[in-house]
Amino acid sequence: MQNDPAQPNPIDEQDKNIEAALAQIKHRIVVFSGKGGVGKTTVAVNLAYSLLKQNNQVGLLDADITGPNVPKMTGAESSPASLGDSNHVLPLIQNGLKIISIAPMLPNDAPLIWRGPLRSNAIRQFLADVLWGELDYLLADLPPGTGDEVLTAAQKMLPQMAIVVTTPQEVSLIDCRRAVNMAKKLNIPNIGVVENMSGLVCPHCSEEIDIFGTGGGEKMAKQMDVHFLGRIPMELSVRQGSDEGKPIVLESTPSKTSEAFKKISENVEKILSE
Ligand SMILES: Nc1ncnc2c1ncn2[C@@H]1O[C@H](COP(=O)(O)OP(=O)(O)OP(=O)(O)O)[C@@H](O)[C@H]1O
Ligand SMILES: [Mg+2]
Repeated sequence: MQNDPAQPNPIDEQDKNIEAALAQIKHRIVVFSGKGGVGKTTVAVNLAYSLLKQNNQVGLLDADITGPNVPKMTGAESSPASLGDSNHVLPLIQNGLKIISIAPMLPNDAPLIWRGPLRSNAIRQFLADVLWGELDYLLADLPPGTGDEVLTAAQKMLPQMAIVVTTPQEVSLIDCRRAVNMAKKLNIPNIGVVENMSGLVCPHCSEEIDIFGTGGGEKMAKQMDVHFLGRIPMELSVRQGSDEGKPIVLESTPSKTSEAFKKISENVEKILSE
């Protein structure tokens, strides 16, 4: 079937809308990892709020289409409002952060069984149809691995930075190297590594226990000639805050983890302003 040349091609239209949206967003960052469960969503959420606390306008796009956890971790669980007269959707605003995720649009516990092209299309729609407005930073929280979502986010968001999250164990570092190499292949200009679950903060004495080891992420970042953004310890309150939709960096009580996120967000700002 041939396209009617008189009708606009929907893909071209979508690309134009994405271009218009990106023109209003200064810095785009993708957060991913080679391995699942290493803390990508935790890092994306807390980094987004840390950047917000440094007086930036920030958006968070949940690009993990089949395992969307951003609403649970931020408490932004209501459906986004669509504007009746168009295809446009307003992001949810939770504690000042603009958020979009597919999760609130799905019935509870419903699996989303979509092949790669459909998942990629959802990400393109989040860029084209969501009214992000002017932003200093848009972060995308990606699923684990190096699949379609990472490719689509890299091609459509044109991120200036990839943040690769790893834990200190060798099994995670092996996959992290693959993720760093993918970011290099995709020509993402700045690559930063975050070492998460780097030491456990004892809830009783606040001493750090070197449970998974520490320093592997920094060593790997040096070897691969990419930025090391910082290390985040394992802390009980991080997991509790995630489960309750209260990111740790928004807590008024100071913690080692909040301090670590502050340093990481300062590093991100410094690298992207250069
Ligand atoms: N520094 C930390 N301290 C304590 N708990 C943490 C820390 N980082 C992550 N967690 C917990 O580990 C679990 C996995 O984290 P998270 O969901 O952020 O990982 P992920 O890499 O996004 O996973 P997925 O690959 O499934 O998307 C969560 O329960 C989270 O609360
Ligand atoms: Mg996740």
